[in-house]
Amino acid sequence: MALQSSLLHVSAVALLVLFSLLLSHGESAATPCVCVTHDHDNPIAELFPNNATGVLNATLAIIPIPLETARSLIPPQYGILERAYRALLPSFPEGMYPVMVQAAHDHDIQFLAYGITLEDFSRVGFEFPFLDLTGDGYSSFRWAPAQLISAANEIAVEGSRAYGTIVSPAKYEPVCDAYRGLPNGNTYFRGTSLASPEFVELEMARVSHQTLNPYPVEFFRNITNQPTFANATSCDNMIRLFNTTMSVGEYAPVPVRGRVKAHTLPFGAEMEWTDIYGVQVATPFIENNYLDCETMRGYSGTGGPGDSYIPGPPSDDAL
Ligand SMILES: *[C@@H]1O[C@H](CO)[C@@H](O)[C@H](O)[C@H]1NC(C)=O
Ligand SMILES: *[C@@H]1O[C@H](CO)[C@@H](O)[C@H](O)[C@H]1NC(C)=O
Ligand SMILES: *[C@@H]1O[C@H](CO)[C@@H](O)[C@H](O)[C@H]1NC(C)=O
Ligand SMILES: *[C@@H]1O[C@H](CO)[C@@H](O)[C@H](O)[C@H]1NC(C)=O
Ligand SMILES: *[C@@H]1O[C@H](CO)[C@@H](O)[C@H](O)[C@H]1NC(C)=O
Repeated sequence: MALQSSLLHVSAVALLVLFSLLLSHGESAATPCVCVTHDHDNPIAELFPNNATGVLNATLAIIPIPLETARSLIPPQYGILERAYRALLPSFPEGMYPVMVQAAHDHDIQFLAYGITLEDFSRVGFEFPFLDLTGDGYSSFRWAPAQLISAANEIAVEGSRAYGTIVSPAKYEPVCDAYRGLPNGNTYFRGTSLASPEFVELEMARVSHQTLNPYPVEFFRNITNQPTFANATSCDNMIRLFNTTMSVGEYAPVPVRGRVKAHTLPFGAEMEWTDIYGVQVATPFIENNYLDCETMRGYSGTGGPGDSYIPGPPSDDAL
């Protein structure tokens, strides 16, 4: 069984860690390596006790790919709402489509009224925003076909699979944070599948001149608030709040630039992109799971008539 073998891998990793600790410190094995995250606690659990809430500390970055490539990766029934992303980012390069890579640590997930909490986990994957799932020509949905998720969190792995997502149970570096610092000052994050050659790796540097960053935080706020789907049997409505104390002052979003290396779906081969821009930001979220996608047509997070929609030949977006 896949689950058993991934558990075996996890314990093998734990043993290796333990051994290397013993070798380097000669200390007793009585205190196992307890991973303490740097993430802030969920500040909205009490505000929304009847909903699932949590914190996502993430690196979000945009990879511009040719529209033709996007068209070949995205299932043909979903139109690409080019007008919707151009409305937000008029200067986005001609003939290109913005794929988002999301590398995140999910922390302090609660369903307060039911006393439910979920263990932290990490996840990474490529997400395809601004898709016309319902065929109305303006509501933006986000396709997230595949994810690497911390193998130790069986609930997160199965919860994502229930959307039809292709999930690879994975191990992460760092183990319980959104990223770690490298000696050169950059940040590092890597998810590695335990059962396949899949991985996603990010190394990012802080961009000192805000003006060099081509994507405003608003662009990421917009994308991360679009309902997500995998095989479109149901949609995930995650409301990401960018206006809490978690993302201001010393925790304000940090513009970053760097390198993304990956071998995972829907890209068929190992890929490497350099000079990728994005942001590092932690946001609380409210998550409404397994909704009927049709009910999210025209949802405020998805755009609306007279907004991104400009009357034109209907075939315009169906490249
Ligand atoms: C996000 O993660 C980084 C890296 O672990 C950490 O330094 C930062 O404090 C976290 N931010 C929040 C608001 O949790
Ligand atoms: C909380 O959950 C309820 C029931 O599922 C839902 O109707 C409501 O919209 C959710 N609240 C938010 C802020 O999403
Ligand atoms: C989507 O995935 C779910 C979960 O694996 C499955 O139950 C459902 O049948 C799938 N739907 C389609 C259309 O493939
Ligand atoms: C924060 O943003 C959410 C939606 O993104 C909105 O509902 C809420 O009113 C905002 N709060 C403040 C204080 O601006
Ligand atoms: C996202 O941008 C579209 C325009 O493309 C707009 O209609 C929609 O309201 C925005 N959503 C959010 C949550 O800002």
